[in-house]
Amino acid sequence: MIRSNLSSLRNGSLNAEQRERVYQAELSLKRLAPRLQAHFEMRVAEGYDVSDEVQHEFEVRLEEHWVDLFSLLFDLYGTRYDFFYHLEQIMVTAIDAWVKRPPGLRSLDHRRANDPDWFASEKIVGGALYVDLFSDNLGKLSDSIGYFKELGLTYLHLMPLFAVRPGDNDGGYAISNYRSIDPRLGTIEDLRNLSEKLREAGILLVLDFVFNHTSDDHDWAKLAQSGDMEYQKFYYIFPDREKPDQYEQTLREIFPTVRRGNFTWHDGMQQWVWTTFNNFQWDLNYTNPAVFRAMAEEMFFIASTGVDILRLDAVAFIWKQMGTSCENLPEAHKLIQAFNRLTRIATPSLLFKSEAIVHPDDVVKYISPRECQISYNPTLMALLWESLATRNVRLLTRSLSHRHKLPPHTAWVNYLRCHDDIGWTFDDADAAALGINAYDHRQFLNRFYTGQFEGSFARGVPFQENLATGDMRIAGTLASLAGLELAIEEGSEEGKELAIRRMLLLEAITLSIGGIPLLYLGEEWGMLNDYDFVKDPAKAGDTRWIHRPKMKWEFLQELDDTIGPEGGSIRRRIFRSLQKLIAVRKNMHAFAGQQMELVNTGNPHLLSFIRIVDSHRLIVMANFDDSPQSFDGNRLRTVGLGRFFKDALTDKQYGTSEPIELGAYQFLWLQRI
Ligand code: GLC
Ligand code: GLC
Repeated sequence: MIRSNLSSLRNGSLNAEQRERVYQAELSLKRLAPRLQAHFEMRVAEGYDVSDEVQHEFEVRLEEHWVDLFSLLFDLYGTRYDFFYHLEQIMVTAIDAWVKRPPGLRSLDHRRANDPDWFASEKIVGGALYVDLFSDNLGKLSDSIGYFKELGLTYLHLMPLFAVRPGDNDGGYAISNYRSIDPRLGTIEDLRNLSEKLREAGILLVLDFVFNHTSDDHDWAKLAQSGDMEYQKFYYIFPDREKPDQYEQTLREIFPTVRRGNFTWHDGMQQWVWTTFNNFQWDLNYTNPAVFRAMAEEMFFIASTGVDILRLDAVAFIWKQMGTSCENLPEAHKLIQAFNRLTRIATPSLLFKSEAIVHPDDVVKYISPRECQISYNPTLMALLWESLATRNVRLLTRSLSHRHKLPPHTAWVNYLRCHDDIGWTFDDADAAALGINAYDHRQFLNRFYTGQFEGSFARGVPFQENLATGDMRIAGTLASLAGLELAIEEGSEEGKELAIRRMLLLEAITLSIGGIPLLYLGEEWGMLNDYDFVKDPAKAGDTRWIHRPKMKWEFLQELDDTIGPEGGSIRRRIFRSLQKLIAVRKNMHAFAGQQMELVNTGNPHLLSFIRIVDSHRLIVMANFDDSPQSFDGNRLRTVGLGRFFKDALTDKQYGTSEPIELGAYQFLWLQRI
């Protein structure tokens, strides 16, 4: 029986308002309990395997999270005429998710619910890929598990693979059905098979939860287009420009080259639709609790395929309010927290990863065990590139000094490249404190990474250049941005050497700084920009395709080729070096978790930090300059770190009585001996 006695929560530390809220939550559950019980019984009668024990587990977790969940939903929807109806529907959705949960996932739920740091392991190393570009389809992807193992990956993010609209679909982010797979990639059955095989291989599966918008050909959007009022209320639809114009005054443009502003005229409906991204991506209206419930169902369906981590796409944009930027609003957090509470109750092994590519102060607000347990680290990403361009780590160091630390049971996902562009999202005040003018600096970085700055090694291209504001973001692969493309073009051996070192330097930092490292596949071969994307009309308008190249399986043959052509030897070196870095990371317990202390190097080109976990320690040192730099070894001794060290990568020994020399772009992973 679902109990409604939550009086354990009535402790003395609550204020009067909170006590009232607990009372309301408790009474609501008491009223709901018989209906939820009846729902369980109906599922049993239908033949679902719901033992008393299985039901009991749900109830225990429901009791634990109910007050929170009720509070969040009440804050969001309490003033709605039909709140109580939706509350019941939301709970029914959660019960169904648990009732239908495959037994294998239920046992994972137990394990992880009791181990809130399960993802803090040094053994977790991620990779992201587009299924079609990597292996054509899901079936063939299953056959590539050996490849992931060889590289050392234990976390695999598959870019969106659900059914999409015909033509441009924003790389899978315009979803027309969350319950079927794009037929070119396979079927839901294929996904289930793959997820089982990945689990057997010890690889976590990460999929997107694209919940800010649907495609314009999703059933809900089609119903809206046919005039169905109930579904028009799933989106933000306006009869004229009055409201859109008012909203526009405080909105920024995310894809300014697609269309000016954030609204798209729909001829059929003769109305304006809110479309933050492309014209065909319709923003969902979460002020409507029916939308929350409907998306919770889709979320649980995706979870049931065996996903370990959901990447919450475009979190910043999910709540709008007139007169604001409509980004990072408090209600956006409440919404995600409400989804999080539902997963704690019905699918507790599932984690959320936040995709908030916004100001660092806002990025961190999504990160909490109660919201998104893990998050992309766009600030680190941008500042690593910034340090490479300036050969100076002071902005990076300043930012790390107060931005790396996270709450317990959460983690950064550290990456260099992903399927998206690079935006210079560092904090202007962090820059100003160092006398750097943020606007000018961003202009410099844009010029540098598009190869317009004299002496630049980078071959990036602009993404979403806004001619009105001069703003742009950068597209390009890791290798092309790090100088490999230019060096090959110029036939410069020295240039190639430096480019490879730059790439490995950045990889070494993301693998060691604390959190989950995430590669974008192709990086392991140093793949260059793919200029052919312009030949595909569905891709030509979006320069991000330049850094989403197709996997070339013939590269694998180069691995054993000791004399092969020059290009081959570069790829082999990058692959083998990265493979080694990953293997060494996975053997160093000091790389688990998040904890990281900066070491003052006294040299603006050198970044150094210590990782300490229990009795395990490791000092990382990295030279961002293209000439040798030295570090006074006494600094390590005087802070008690030791006198003799060994580089975990080369076994070379260092004593602190002499300066520690680092060559161009060299890095060390120093263990005390
Ligand atoms: C996210 C995705 C990006 C996509 C956008 C709209 O930011 O990473 O690729 O264009 O959302 O879905
Ligand atoms: C969204 C877009 C991404 C962009 C970011 C910041 O997340 O998907 O491409 O960089 O917004 O504008």
